This record gives sequence, structure tokens and C-alpha cells, in this order.
Amino acid sequence: MSTLKRLGVFDSGLGGLTVLNEVCKYNPGLDVVYFGDTARVPYGSRTVETINRYAEQDVRFLLSQGVEAILIACGTVSTNCLPSLQSIFSLPIVGVIDAGCQAALRASKAKRIGVIGTRATVNSRAYELRIRELCPEAQTWGVECPLFVPLIENGFSPDDPITVMTVERYLSQFKGTGVDTIIMGCTHYPFLASTLQKILPDVTFINVGKALSHRLREDFELPVSSEPSRVSYFVSDEDTGFLQIARTYLDAVSADEVQKVNIDKF
Ligand code: DGL
Repeated sequence: MSTLKRLGVFDSGLGGLTVLNEVCKYNPGLDVVYFGDTARVPYGSRTVETINRYAEQDVRFLLSQGVEAILIACGTVSTNCLPSLQSIFSLPIVGVIDAGCQAALRASKAKRIGVIGTRATVNSRAYELRIRELCPEAQTWGVECPLFVPLIENGFSPDDPITVMTVERYLSQFKGTGVDTIIMGCTHYPFLASTLQKILPDVTFINVGKALSHRLREDFELPVSSEPSRVSYFVSDEDTGFLQIARTYLDAVSADEVQKVNIDKF
């Protein structure tokens, strides 16, 4: 294995920034190309065929930027497309499921674990199946939260009354389950972490990006450096607030400019 020079990271939009931030925090010296498919977000309410088509184009764009490996910073693509992407493309591709499940099992005493995600993620049952594979006695509950991504992409703050009401409504479905740990199965959801935690204060919420960033060195040979990572940002639609949200959220890496890509060409 030779040292990874350029890592591609993609998501349907802003969500992958939560993964990027953790990856850059724990793995300095990386050269990263980030792509957010802001023209076609959200992915999570689309069919598996459409999500696969979008994901293949996203990978082809990143390949055009000379990346040597790809991190799928999207729960929806990780749960629905990982094996198919791995069979089409020859470069290493990793998703967020396995690291998220391992972290949840470490955190959960009761082995009663919730998964919140987009409709496509929850329907795939990929997180739940992986948890059972790793720990057959674990019990799991999946709850789809389709309104979270539009709220985040439209800049609703975690404490906006509409956000709080929506979070309360979705999380109420865990009542009576006894879950002590919930995987934020969509990478957008850490934007709402403070509200999720306020509503279920005794539950441990798992940030899949954080879980993955701690074990990235198992998947790749990474540079040994103390220099901050450098990221080139690309989106597929006009930059409507992407940079502003990125600058507010990211604390491990800077965001100076973003370029627009015509993703239909890939
Ligand atoms: N961040 C994506 C995920 O992890 C958002 C999905 C969407 O675009 O609906 O699932």
C-alpha cells in the first residue's frame, strides 16, 4: 500500500461536511476533493436506481480530479450503493456503515440501538443488518426522518421551533423501545446534534463520520504530517450558501472557495 495522496469525499450536499471535518481533525496532511451534489439533493427520497446513477456520476467526477480513493460521506449512498460502486470502479471506496455500527455497539450497554436516516437508508436496513451480523443479540429500530435534510439544506438552525418540533415528532417513535444509543445514519444529522441530544438526553448519538475518521488508517495508508489538510470544494449548483454554512460548521479545515461542476457531463 502506498501513501494516499488525494482523497475524494462526496455527499448529496452539505452533510458530508460533518464527515470531512472529523476526517481532517484526526488525519492531518490530507489533500481532499469534496463534492456536494447540491443540484440534486436530497438523495434519500429517491429510488435506489436513481441514487446509484447519481453516485456513479459523483465518483466519475472525483476520478477526473485525480483522487486515489473515495470516502462516501453519505449514509444513503453507503447503505444503497457501496457494493455496486466497488464492483464498477477499481479504486478503493469506503462508506460509513461499518464504522457507525461498530461505534454504536461499543457505546450501547443494553444492545438496543436506534438508527435514524433518510427513507432510502432506513428501507435498506443496511445499518440494522450489519449490527445484527456483529452482535446477533442486539435489537434495532429504524426511523426515517425525511424532513431533516431539507431543513438543514435550507439553513434552519437546530433550535428553530420548526426544527425542534420536527425532531420531537420523529424521535417520539423511540418511546418504549429502551434504546440507549442512536446512530445518526445520515451525515447531515450532526448539524442537529444539539437538539437531538436535548430531546433524548440519556441516549448516546453516534456520529458516523467521527467513528470512521478514527479508523481511516485501517483502510488507507495516510500521510504522516502535522500540516492542516487542504480541501478543494465543488458543488453542482450555484453556491447558494454552501460556503457560508461550511465556514460556520467546519473547525478543522478551512473553506475559501467553491467551484461549480456540471455533473451531467460525468
Ligand atoms: N447526507 C446524506 C445521507 O447521509 C443525505 C441524504 C439526502 O440527500 O437525502 O444520507
